Amino acid sequence: MSVDLAVVPVAGRGTRLLPLTKSQPKEMLPVGRKPVVQYVVEELSRCGLSRLLFVTGPGKTAIENHFDIDAELIANLRETGKEELLAELAFEREDIEYFYTRQRRQLGLGHAVLCSRAVVGNQPFVVALGDSIIGLNAASRVVALMIEQFCTSGADAVVALEEVPPSEVVHYGIAQPKGAAGEVFELADLIEKPSAEEAPGNLAVAARYVFSSAIFDCLAATRPGKGGEIQLTDAIRMLIEQGRRVLGVRLGSNEKRFDIGNFESYFLAFAEFALADPHLSGTLRRKLAAMLDPTGG
Ligand code: UTP
Repeated sequence: MSVDLAVVPVAGRGTRLLPLTKSQPKEMLPVGRKPVVQYVVEELSRCGLSRLLFVTGPGKTAIENHFDIDAELIANLRETGKEELLAELAFEREDIEYFYTRQRRQLGLGHAVLCSRAVVGNQPFVVALGDSIIGLNAASRVVALMIEQFCTSGADAVVALEEVPPSEVVHYGIAQPKGAAGEVFELADLIEKPSAEEAPGNLAVAARYVFSSAIFDCLAATRPGKGGEIQLTDAIRMLIEQGRRVLGVRLGSNEKRFDIGNFESYFLAFAEFALADPHLSGTLRRKLAAMLDPTGG
């Protein structure tokens, strides 16, 4: 068995980032030198995915344009002697086939994944959220590891998990391990947004998944939850209730999740990527240090 198809949901409205997202997709917001979704695509490509299906929605055409080959721009850079900038467009030539489908009503992440059913069919597939980068400069290989686990374990779902501070479990789906929680382990349950007291631990679902097609029947049977949205975590929970195996894979220490869905995490992600920029890191550090401590003491 091999997994070469990834579904990338990018249809959400991004209301927590208004007014920034009023007329531009949050997945196209810059983090350092690239838009968020380009990091996602580069990560998936490095992990061996060669077919990407974006689930898009209103106002998201900038994403489709971004991955087109822009022959006019390339010719213009050549003619104007800016050949060195051509390297910045190398991502256009990744060995990837792109597909697009629409989520016609924004009924939540679970619903967005369900919208891919007709295209995905019975194949196993990856889901990678288009608004989350894994690892500084998307250096993570976790999806490759998750695919390996999926193919060798007979599980119907493998989810990436990240340790979060106990005060933050309330924002995430939290894994309850079946036994000891090693690097890879089976889930007994998944609790959506528990309080710190109720939480069975502090390992939060982290924007990357591998599924068999069994997830589609669960999504179709999932009733809308909070905010009228169909939650992907509810469908994963249903898999567990049906007695199917769901595995968790922890993100490594160098595989931090950068979620750009709210201003605090977006600002922090931009700052971290900018501070790691190969050309501007030193200058930025000096200038920021001076801003933070104008007296220089
Ligand atoms: P979020 O859970 O952050 O939701 O999406 P959102 O609707 O985009 O943002 P807010 O809550 O209004 O601020 C996580 C990922 O799932 C996609 C988003 O595009 C994002 O990449 N998504 C979310 C969909 O594709 N469809 C949806 O209905 C909701």
